[in-house]
Formats: sequence, C-alpha cells, structure tokens
Amino acid sequence: MKKPLTTLSVLLLFVAIFGACKNREFNVSYNLYTEEEFATISAHLNLTQDPVNYDFNFPSYYLGGTLRSTTNEAATLGRVIFYDKNLSKDRSKSCASCHKQALAFSDDVPLSEGIEGRRTDRNSLALGSVFNFAEYYGSPTSNRIPFMWDNRATSVAEQSRGSFANSNEMGKEMHEVVSRVRAQEYYQPLFTKAFGAERISEDLVLRALTSFINSMSQVNSTFDQELSKLTGKNGLVASVEVYNDFGGYSVSENAGKALFLANCSSCHGRIMEPTPIIASNNGLSTQYQDRGVGALSNQPEEVGLFKVPPLRSLALTAPYMHDGRFATLEEVLDHYSSNIQNHPNLGAQLRNPLNNQPRRFDFSDQDKRDIIAFLHTLTDHSVLTQERFSDPFLK
Ligand code: HEC
Ligand code: HEC
Repeated sequence: MKKPLTTLSVLLLFVAIFGACKNREFNVSYNLYTEEEFATISAHLNLTQDPVNYDFNFPSYYLGGTLRSTTNEAATLGRVIFYDKNLSKDRSKSCASCHKQALAFSDDVPLSEGIEGRRTDRNSLALGSVFNFAEYYGSPTSNRIPFMWDNRATSVAEQSRGSFANSNEMGKEMHEVVSRVRAQEYYQPLFTKAFGAERISEDLVLRALTSFINSMSQVNSTFDQELSKLTGKNGLVASVEVYNDFGGYSVSENAGKALFLANCSSCHGRIMEPTPIIASNNGLSTQYQDRGVGALSNQPEEVGLFKVPPLRSLALTAPYMHDGRFATLEEVLDHYSSNIQNHPNLGAQLRNPLNNQPRRFDFSDQDKRDIIAFLHTLTDHSVLTQERFSDPFLK
C-alpha cells in the first residue's frame, strides 16, 4: 500500500512544481520575441514585447461546455491578419475595412466597399457579439448560431474563407492568402509564437483569425452590469431577474426594457442570448429581391428569412437590417410599430393571433423613446477602444 502512494505523491509533487513554474512563466512579464524578431515586427507593426491577454469573462451558462481552443499568441497573430490589407487582391482592403472597431466591428454604410470599389450584397454584420461564436463553447450540437444573414456558414473559419474569396470583398482564395502571408516577413515570428514549428497553412491562418474574433466578446454593457447586480452572477445568465426593474436604469430605460421583453425578446432573446429562433422574417416587405435563407435552400417557406441579428452594441451598428435600409433606430421602431408587411413567411411572433394579420404595436412616441433608451444600454464600450483589438499596422 505504501509504495504506490509514495510514487503517486512524487508524481503529484512533480506536477505541482511543473505547474507552478509554468504559472510563474505566465504571470511574470517577459519578452515574447527575440530582439531580432522584434525588430522585424516593429518595422511594420506596433506590437508590444509583452504578451497581450485575450481572455474575457465567459458567459457562465456556457461554462459547462468545452472552453475555447485559443491562445493569446494565436489571437495576436489573428489581429494582424484581420487588419492586413496585403491579404486582399489589390492590397486595398482588410477584414477591418468593413468591420470597424469603433462601430462594434460593423460598417456605417448600407453596403460596404470591397476591392476595386465593388460593393457587398448585404449590410456588414457586427462581430462584437460573443453569441455568434458558439463554436467556441458548448457541444457541437447545441447553441450553435450560424453565421451570415442567410445562415450559410457554421464557423468563423468557414465564414472567413468566404470573405477572403468573395470577389466583392477581398478577392483571394485561401491558398493565395497563404502565399501572401508567407511573403510578409513579420508573419514568421508571429506564427512561431502562436503555433511553434508548424508551417504557415490555410488551417492555421483561419485558426488565428478565429481566436482573435472569438475574443471580441462584449459582455460588460450597462445591461450586463445591472443584471449581474440582481443575480450575483455574470450578466449573461438567462434568469427571471431580467424582468425586475434595474436599480441603475432610468425610468425610461426600465420602461423600454419591459416593452422589449413583451414584444421583441421572443425572437431577439431576453438577455440577447442565442434564441431558438435562428432566422425569421420581420415583414420588411411583401416581396424580397434578396430571398435570404430561401435563396440557398430553395424552400418557398424560407424565402425572406434572415438571421435574427444579435442586438449588442446596436446603437453603433447603423444602418440596420440585411440591406441596411434603416438609417436610425427611430426608423426601425416606426417599422415595428405600424409598418410590418404581410409576407407569407412573416414570423408568427409578429402576427396577431386573432386575425392572423401583421401585428400593429402602435407604440407611442414615448414608447419608442423608451425602447431606444433601453437598446442603448446594450453597448459595451470597453471593447471598442481596447488597444488589443485595434489596428496594429504602423501608419
Ligand atoms: C468588403 C467588406 C467586408 C470584408 C472585407 C469582410 N467582411 Fe465580413 N462581412 C461583410 C458583410 C457584408 C457581411 C454579411 C454578409 C452576409 O451575411 O451575406 C459579413 C459577415 C461577417 C461575419 C458573420 C457575422 C455574423 O454574425 O454572422 C463574420 C464573422 C465576418 N464577416 C468576418 C470577416 C473576416 C474575418 C474578414 C476578413 C477575412 C471579413 N469579414 C472581411 C463584409 C465584409
Ligand atoms: C419574428 C421575430 C422578430 C421579432 C418579434 C422582432 N424582430 Fe427584430 N429582427 C428580426 C429579424 C429576422 C431581423 C433581420 C431582418 C432582415 O434584415 O431582413 C430583425 C432585425 C432587427 C433589427 C436590426 C438589427 C441590425 O443589426 O441590423 C433591430 C434593431 C430589431 N430587429 C429590433 C427589434 C425590436 C425593437 C423588436 C420589438 C419591437 C423586434 N426587433 C422584434 C426578427 C424579429
């Protein structure tokens, strides 16, 4: 009995010492790059010698699942790729051209400008919403929210491959992107830190991008802080406390929250979480030129269905809807209040059950102001100014 126990303790001691060393190495500030590497990097990029931390507060209700497979070094590499115009056909655009940090990684025009002055088919989606990135957490079968207005991608990698190749966006197939990456001297040291001796490949470029994008989590809005105060937990926990008035909210913000929970959360979620409703129709029109999910599936009942967009940092992501038709939240509220069209695929939540007609919320001006005041509390301002998400290229 004694012997195996001793062996076990020695082993445990070993693990403990090893773990402690590893931890120390992690906490103490140290130089990530050699002098030579840092000189190469600094000729192009404004990065720090110290490793940058890309951790964030996980939504606790996901914590049961697999945690993210990212490292700070991979996210740092992803940041450079995200901002690198060299990776587009005419070296004029990067991911960040259409996903701007100050705008919660969205764009401020209905259709964004890609390479050679071309325009995207749809309005740029904001990236600063952790809920999009369900591949990051949980089981592969639950809580997976597909990407894009027509739900056509299931992972950041799949989506990014599409963005690079899209002739209206960056116009480069992945193997060409990899060649461009290999051609820039600053990438080798960044890759070595992120992935060791592995050769620069499509898979690793996409993994780095995924790490960076997955870190853009906006979980510290006034809304999250207020809900956390009531629940004692991370604000992203789905909980009935969301129905209580929030102490730190104005009368108008609380009134707007109540109106939102009564009329909008059935699709958009009570806590802006992934709802069971992945795509729907909100009656923008009786006919859709852009058929959305239906254009891919060819199912008549899916024509006019679009991703139910996450509303985090909404105040910064104008213009609104898949085609950017509404310039302001006032216009959005006017639409829902009195202008929902009777499209055959209109979401049931927006139909009056008594006569099957589109609902008329008939919000008063005050109601609209209240809902908008509430929607403004969903912005997490910190992510929008943090250096770790900013353009690292020297101007
Ligand atoms: C020319 C503008 C443009 C460029 C460049 C661009 N995007 Fe996008 N992005 C868009 C538009 C527009 C959409 C929505 C398209 C759609 O749904 O059909 C989008 C959607 C996305 C989404 C889906 C978000 C969601 O909630 O579903 C992600 C993620 C994304 N882009 C990441 C990237 C990455 C990474 C890059 C660089 C490799 C990139 N984008 C380059 C315009 C652009
Ligand atoms: C039937 C489900 C449903 C309900 C209920 C609903 N929405 Fe929507 N909402 C959608 C869909 C689907 C879209 C995207 C439609 C499109 O672009 O074609 C959308 C888009 C939006 C957008 C644009 C977001 C962006 O980033 O462009 C806002 C803002 C919005 N809804 C607010 C509200 C408000 C406020 C209410 C309550 C008054 C509400 N929604 C009720 C389904 C719904």
